[in-house]
Amino acid sequence: MKIGIDKIGFYVPRYYLDMTSLAKERNQDVNKYKIGIGQHKMSVISPAEDIVTMALEAANSILTKEDKAAIDTILFATETAIDYSKAAGNYVHRMLGLQHNIRILELKQACYAATGSLQLALDYVRMQPDKKVLVLSSDVAWYGFNTPGEATQGAGAIAMLVSANPRLAQVHKGTFTTEELPDFYRPSYQEIPTVDGHLSIRCYNDMLKRVDPHTNFLYTCFHMPFANMAVKANKVYSHPISDEKIEVVKAFTQEVGNIYNGSLFLSLISVLSLAKENLENETIGMFSYGSGAIGEFFSLTIQEGYEKVFNKDAMLKHLDDRDEINFETYQSYMSFYKEKEVTHQFIESDFTPHAQNNFVLEQMIQGHRIYKKVSK
Ligand code: COA
Repeated sequence: MKIGIDKIGFYVPRYYLDMTSLAKERNQDVNKYKIGIGQHKMSVISPAEDIVTMALEAANSILTKEDKAAIDTILFATETAIDYSKAAGNYVHRMLGLQHNIRILELKQACYAATGSLQLALDYVRMQPDKKVLVLSSDVAWYGFNTPGEATQGAGAIAMLVSANPRLAQVHKGTFTTEELPDFYRPSYQEIPTVDGHLSIRCYNDMLKRVDPHTNFLYTCFHMPFANMAVKANKVYSHPISDEKIEVVKAFTQEVGNIYNGSLFLSLISVLSLAKENLENETIGMFSYGSGAIGEFFSLTIQEGYEKVFNKDAMLKHLDDRDEINFETYQSYMSFYKEKEVTHQFIESDFTPHAQNNFVLEQMIQGHRIYKKVSK
């Protein structure tokens, strides 16, 4: 029996900062960001959003009434949790109006937890093929002002519906490797991560070499903490894809930045949206890396007729239909984010949510979050 991703959706905040604006303020040559690191834009979370609203937007873009009735498990992968106890998926459950006989879990393993959740979901559905699992990943990659990681920041969410007889991709089991490493971590008392980016690149490549399947794939997608990580990974990979294909693999990340758990799947969306080849029955390699550290290589086979459940034009439009903000607005939105997520105080603002948003954070009362579905 085939098990895999029936549908995939993504959401990135409706605002972005162009790297030219950041380079100017940070007295850096813009080519360091655009050519050296490979980032053109950074998606910036607005005051009315958080990891829950982003996950809601991604899930809402793919789920029908029938899907909602069949979901009995939500796995929410994040490394930017909003609560040490309550799972963010509880808020998603309420706002999507899902049934009550549902299990909800939040999973953490740096940027790898979404891949781990997907693989656990596959095994669950294999045992109970009439069930569907909603795998969510939602993160805000925030490294702080004036840090080396600032140019790699981003925010976004991915939603995947895992089922038997999937219409998008059959997902195959992976090969994984783990070792405790100090490349990136964020203890609970820190607002931003401690990251040794150069060590992390070495750890990433080492993990990739350990799980490299030595197989030729039409495309291989990579986890990307910044877009040019795909270029670096492709160089150590036994079956590198062409430079032209790497451009396709990293195109969406270049426009968004790091979205942590969702980054590998954003790369898959990039390939599904931009590949010139017919991808039906093609198998795509997927390398997932989580700092701290774990690496997993798995593959997935794109199903015949997948374009019935994957609308390229809608994906490209979602990426294109964003508004540029200036540096001052970026500073104020990220200061607002820090204030909200670090102090857990929702500061009243006169911010008007973007017209494209369907879900907004309305209030925080002693840390409890109240969301609103925007009536349109
Ligand atoms: N024009 C073109 N390229 C330039 C340039 C210029 N003017 N100036 C620098 N570069 C290149 C450098 O040669 C380098 O390329 P290389 O990686 O191929 O050698 C690249 O730009 C980056 O420069 P570097 O000096 O290494 O930048 P940095 O010390 O500021 O760090 C990162 C870059 C990516 C390591 C840093 O942004 C970071 O730590 N990001 C977070 C990564 C992360 O989260 N990792 C953990 C999760 S997996």
